[in-house]
Amino acid sequence: MDWQNQKVVVLGGSSGIGLATVMRLAAAGASVVAVGRDRAKLDDALGGIAGQVTGEALDCTDRAALERFFGRLGRIDHLVMTLSGGEGAGPFAELDLAALRRGFEAKFWPQLEAAQTALPTLRRDGSLTFLTAISARIANPGTAGLGAINGALESMIGTLARELAPLRVNAVSPGVIDTPWWDRFPASVKSELFRQQSETLPARRVGQADDVAHALQFLLENTFMTGAVIECDGGLRLL
Ligand SMILES: NC(=O)c1ccc[n+]([C@@H]2O[C@H](COP(=O)([O-])OP(=O)(O)OC[C@H]3O[C@@H](n4cnc5c(N)ncnc54)[C@H](OP(=O)(O)O)[C@@H]3O)[C@@H](O)[C@H]2O)c1
Repeated sequence: MDWQNQKVVVLGGSSGIGLATVMRLAAAGASVVAVGRDRAKLDDALGGIAGQVTGEALDCTDRAALERFFGRLGRIDHLVMTLSGGEGAGPFAELDLAALRRGFEAKFWPQLEAAQTALPTLRRDGSLTFLTAISARIANPGTAGLGAINGALESMIGTLARELAPLRVNAVSPGVIDTPWWDRFPASVKSELFRQQSETLPARRVGQADDVAHALQFLLENTFMTGAVIECDGGLRLL
């Protein structure tokens, strides 16, 4: 792919997997627009990146703001949606369903709102890529709620790929990845989970943001990929 002529929007591009994706695509020569809610965080994250990168402060739960953003931007070639939620984990018997609802509001709905809003400006045979989570495909106790949010997104990929063709629609489904997403948990919980993962995963390490960014780049580049959900989990789904 000639990245020089590609314009990519990364929603959630100021941290973690999204930021790693912005860095990869900018290094390849693409023109990248990174979106996050916090202007200062965007400026901080994007400051040192060489290439054609701009940051846009925008809350993707706000449909009107999304419409203004895509309307202003004009034609784009690829949309990557890495924005995160975070709520909705825990054993089902005690699961706070209000928190799970907020989890859907923070991840499922903004990804759909953004995808739908971007359609008129997305190149007809460009790509639309979702970021889900391996909780959708494994039966790990305590992840039924997260699995529901991500499974809802994953269940749409094939249908969207057929409905929206020749636009390509795909997803990457990560396992445990070392990003600021985990900072919401106490440091001891995070380090114990990461230690366990490093011992038990077939890949024998926790994932890095760039592992997932690499998988995302592949889906953007490979024009024969559509309707696919790529697991990027170090083998977590096999345990
Ligand atoms: N890390 C993992 O282990 C893991 C595993 C499986 C799946 N995932 C999924 O991967 C995705 C990215 O996770 P991450 O680990 O990279 O998270 P992260 O480091 O917390 O980054 C999340 C990004 O999303 C932005 N964001 C959140 N809500 C937004 C909104 N309403 N509008 C615009 N931007 C928004 C954040 O910026 P602002 O806060 O400034 O808005 C930030 O740039 C998430 O969907 C997560 O569920 C992560």
